[in-house]
Amino acid sequence: TRIVVLISGDGSNLQVLLDQAAAGQLGGDVVAVVSNKAEAYGLERARMAGVATAVLSNKDYADRDSFDATLMALIDGYQPDLVVLAGFMRILTPGFVRHYAGRMLNIHPSLLPRYQGLHTHQRAIEAGDEEHGCSVHFVTEELDGGPVVLQARVPIFAGDDEAIVAKRVRVQEHAIYPLVVRWFCEGRLVMQQGNVFLDGALL
Ligand code: GRF
Repeated sequence: TRIVVLISGDGSNLQVLLDQAAAGQLGGDVVAVVSNKAEAYGLERARMAGVATAVLSNKDYADRDSFDATLMALIDGYQPDLVVLAGFMRILTPGFVRHYAGRMLNIHPSLLPRYQGLHTHQRAIEAGDEEHGCSVHFVTEELDGGPVVLQARVPIFAGDDEAIVAKRVRVQEHAIYPLVVRWFCEGRLVMQQGNVFLDGALL
């Protein structure tokens, strides 16, 4: 399975995927890492792993459609079976999302459908939630709204700040994202007509 990972920043989720791929535990290969930010540390992680990198700055494009069209051509040049969004901080156009329907995953730092969008940890703390977490989902045209494959839960304790909650969630992200990617690579995870099946069973 050929995997292209899209990032915008640190790439700690990318690192886990790279490590597991190198250990032969992912069931696929990360063939390229694409960032919309030249300064993203994840690019360095990819280089250290010997993986091809590319930068496509959205600032060089007049509008979302032309950026996404160029990004799509760049990604397709690597002939991926799976596109993994790992901290890619861009809203994608419907045409882009449709093109990768059933073969694009994202990880979101909340228990979807709660807290779509940004600042999820802060919002969970402010709401007084005692439970929070992260979700891996297939990407559909609805932002952070595609069918969820797997979630991990963490507690929020009284007095926790955003940084500590983010850290607690991130540990769980690193546990569940490679697992879901592996299921996809092994052909066990399929999205059809908006429904997700694992080992043939509807999730
Ligand atoms: C993660 O919190 C992920 O849930 C969100 O962006 C962050 C990426 O972190 N979509 P990293 O770049 O993988 O460290």
